[in-house]
Amino acid sequence: MKFFVDTAEVKEIEELAAIGLLDGVTTNPSLILKSGRDFKEVVKEICALLPGKPVSAEVTAMDCPTILQQAAKLSKIADNVVIKLPLTMEGLKACKKLTGDGIKTNVTLCFSVSQALLAAKAGATYISPFVGRHDDVSQDGMALIEDIVQMYGNYPDLHTQVLVASVRHPIHVVQAALIGANVCTIPPKIIHQLVKNPLTDLGLEAFTKDWAKTGQVI
Ligand code: E4P
Repeated sequence: MKFFVDTAEVKEIEELAAIGLLDGVTTNPSLILKSGRDFKEVVKEICALLPGKPVSAEVTAMDCPTILQQAAKLSKIADNVVIKLPLTMEGLKACKKLTGDGIKTNVTLCFSVSQALLAAKAGATYISPFVGRHDDVSQDGMALIEDIVQMYGNYPDLHTQVLVASVRHPIHVVQAALIGANVCTIPPKIIHQLVKNPLTDLGLEAFTKDWAKTGQVI
């Protein structure tokens, strides 16, 4: 499973990229607001940090012609910009056009199998089902991932990749990998949580104490 990081914080991306953990980045208008930075500048910096790796930048327009205008501006920032589009008829129309022009797309705010099917038929590179927001309204976000993966698997001519979004816990990442999702976009804090295990810490503590008792050095 590919790891994308879900953030617009350039420093955090830089740190994770240095460990070789990142296959891409997703941003959204709320993450840009949180960063307090200029959208296009941030996208440019992120794209330069991860050359050749997909960096999702989200359009804000609702109608197809304006979505395409915004997509054209965002695509000019770097070759690895992926255009993030809303899961609406206008968004799908724009998706079809961009795909035809060879531009990669990420159709976002997916909450149903039917939406995922339509996005794939419109040629989306990625579909982003939001698991955490689904859980928030007492629906099973991971069951949606399972259903979409199964549905796409029925039709080998659909090439859209399932990008698990709105990840809130390490267990979401584990479940996404067990289901066989193509990509998981993960907030930096959760990537750091994934490495933690109290048994690792306890084991290290014991080895460190025993090593000190040997009086040896390496
Ligand atoms: C990803 O593409 C989305 O922007 C993101 O995962 C949304 O996460 P949230 O529901 O925690 O805001």
